[in-house]
Amino acid sequence: MLVKKLLVVLALSAGLVSPAAAQRKPPVKAPAKIAAGIPAALLAVGKSVYAQNCLTCHQADGLGVDGLNPPLVKNDYVLGGKPRLVKVLLNGLQGVDINGEQYHNVMPAQELTDAQMAAVLTYVRNAFGNKASSVSVAEVKAVRATNKK
Ligand code: HEC
Repeated sequence: MLVKKLLVVLALSAGLVSPAAAQRKPPVKAPAKIAAGIPAALLAVGKSVYAQNCLTCHQADGLGVDGLNPPLVKNDYVLGGKPRLVKVLLNGLQGVDINGEQYHNVMPAQELTDAQMAAVLTYVRNAFGNKASSVSVAEVKAVRATNKK
């Protein structure tokens, strides 16, 4: 029995049993991408902008600090309209309830370029279990151009 099984396995791996299957090329590996088709390189830039500018308050896991800094996970600011999200970075935020909770720290306005904002917001919208479309440099630029403090 065992010998017979072994023979079949050997024949299979040698391509004797099904030459067609043996000749099939292995699937071509696509470059690392997430489902929404966002390049890994852009997410990597966003992650480093996050580490330098946001992590101390919103934490590495995006869950923030109770009563101080809100989570960036599955909330309407992060996943909803992009202009409002860009304005949080441009103008900062203070004294707003987020998902019915109060946070007593102050979110400072961020001194970042359009490209840095686009990258970090794209990252945040696709990290910590979030999944949403990317934010482009043009979208940030447009909001900045009409932004009133
Ligand atoms: C000094 C701490 C601090 C830093 C640094 C900071 N934030 Fe915040 N952030 C806050 C606080 C506090 C709030 C909530 C303010 C309120 O309740 O009115 C907030 C709110 C937000 C919100 C809207 C609410 C939510 O939970 O989604 C987003 C989005 C956000 N921050 C993203 C960022 C990003 C991205 C960075 C880095 C580029 C950053 N923050 C840096 C403290 C900070």
